[in-house]
Amino acid sequence: MTIYNLGSINIDRFYALPHLPEPGETLSALRHSVGLGGKGMNQSVAAARAGAKVNHIGAIGKADDWVRERIESYGVNCQFLRALDSSTGHAIIYVDGEGENTIVIDAGTNAQQDYESVLRALDGAASNDTLLLQNETNLQPDAATFARAKGMRVIYSAAPFSVDAVKALVSDVSMVAMNAIEAGQLCDEMGLTLEQIPVPEVLVTLGSKGAMWRSNETGEVIEVSSPKVTAVDTTAAGDTFAGYFAAGLDLGMSVQKSMEWATQAAALKVTRHGTADAIPSAAEVAAFSSK
Ligand code: RIB
Ligand code: NA
Repeated sequence: MTIYNLGSINIDRFYALPHLPEPGETLSALRHSVGLGGKGMNQSVAAARAGAKVNHIGAIGKADDWVRERIESYGVNCQFLRALDSSTGHAIIYVDGEGENTIVIDAGTNAQQDYESVLRALDGAASNDTLLLQNETNLQPDAATFARAKGMRVIYSAAPFSVDAVKALVSDVSMVAMNAIEAGQLCDEMGLTLEQIPVPEVLVTLGSKGAMWRSNETGEVIEVSSPKVTAVDTTAAGDTFAGYFAAGLDLGMSVQKSMEWATQAAALKVTRHGTADAIPSAAEVAAFSSK
């Protein structure tokens, strides 16, 4: 089966800092590097490194050929990647000594997804294929409606979180993923409990504590705890989880097994600096889990 992902592609610029900057403060970076990222691309790389077949639907700037080469080097299919005349999306990422981060993004070509191209890409999908969505591109609602009409599983990571974006999409997807604070905000805003949110499945990520999945159709709840690690960089941990989780389901694993696998992969990621380039392979996750 195949995972399609309508997702952002960013050039990530990392600055390792002694602490996150205060208003008015000028700080010298301890380290600086440039890599591949974007919540969408991180999920595609995670799913591909997990062993799934991934077709990424997205857009980059014509001048950034190295981005396409990097994506292909991780085994992500770029057939549905458009090269446009404007700038590739980018992110400025600050990481402090505790591994906490702040991120500023500029959407660039991520906000220029084209309706015809997205539907043409999804037209080739089968009903047992999966579509991944996040909140860093345009056209998620159109893609979700089209994919659900085909019977595809649609996994929506509501990140970066926006109540309005989730409200617009939640009833068109198979599963929504958020952290606990975001889930609380969504419930407050909709005046509903988690059980009442109009979506078949909800995944609540709990950071270093693991994750909780709930079927709103059967009431089944699955909780998975995370191994203890020393975090150096939590950036893209949620994306790693989402990509591995989707890959697990796509490869025929149970929800429980997929969650366990995703939790291990995300825990290993936070021991490394970086985003897409730091996402571990299935072999690395297996070695880490058996320790
Ligand atoms: O979730 C991490 C990602 O958020 C980074 O790769 C950055 O590009 C932003 O999209
Ligand atoms: Na997306």
